[in-house]
Amino acid sequence: MHKLAIIVGSLRQGSFNRQLAEAISKLIPKEITIDWIKLDDVPIYNGDYEMNLPAPVKRLKDQIKDADAVLLVTPEYNRSIPAVLKNAIDWATRPPGTSVWGSKPVAIIGISPGAIGTAAAQQHLRNTLSAVGALTMPQPEIYVTYKEGMFSSNGEIADAKFKEILQKFIAHFIIWVTKNSKGNL
Ligand code: FNR
Repeated sequence: MHKLAIIVGSLRQGSFNRQLAEAISKLIPKEITIDWIKLDDVPIYNGDYEMNLPAPVKRLKDQIKDADAVLLVTPEYNRSIPAVLKNAIDWATRPPGTSVWGSKPVAIIGISPGAIGTAAAQQHLRNTLSAVGALTMPQPEIYVTYKEGMFSSNGEIADAKFKEILQKFIAHFIIWVTKNSKGNL
């Protein structure tokens, strides 16, 4: 894996999912370039613009296309994924025949203050990713419950055991991507 794109499904400043994504990015081997995908200027999907894609949508599609793999870091909203993330996934499949998700290796993770730590959202996300033909890493699954102080002031994971779990998750993902990369179909 040379380039990893990261998408965070929350726009808010101080997002727990962004903090988790940034902490994970610090654990990624330096040889892998990280490309952060911005969603805050991506318009709500409108089929009228499919043949003349808005610039942020073109950028989103190019970033996904250029990446060897994508990490999706999702909040849970009402037992599913936020509209902003679904919107980005949907745009990246349009217009027909130009989807950038086909056979794209994807890993998912998420954090919420709730006890099930985005389990329901992640299950919905797997469903959508399957529909668009992405290859979603089946295991390990990580559901994170937010706790005050879990991120240190320099943005790292404070708890050594949790940090190790994330390191194993990334190591597994890198090997899995190497085995499953097929290029866009
Ligand atoms: C939530 N939240 C939430 N949490 C959860 O664990 N399960 C859920 O179903 C929901 N539902 C939900 C709906 C809506 C509309 C909002 C705004 C929030 C709480 C959510 O996990 C919390 O706001 C997180 O802080 C959102 O992630 P970020 O923005 O911190 O990354």
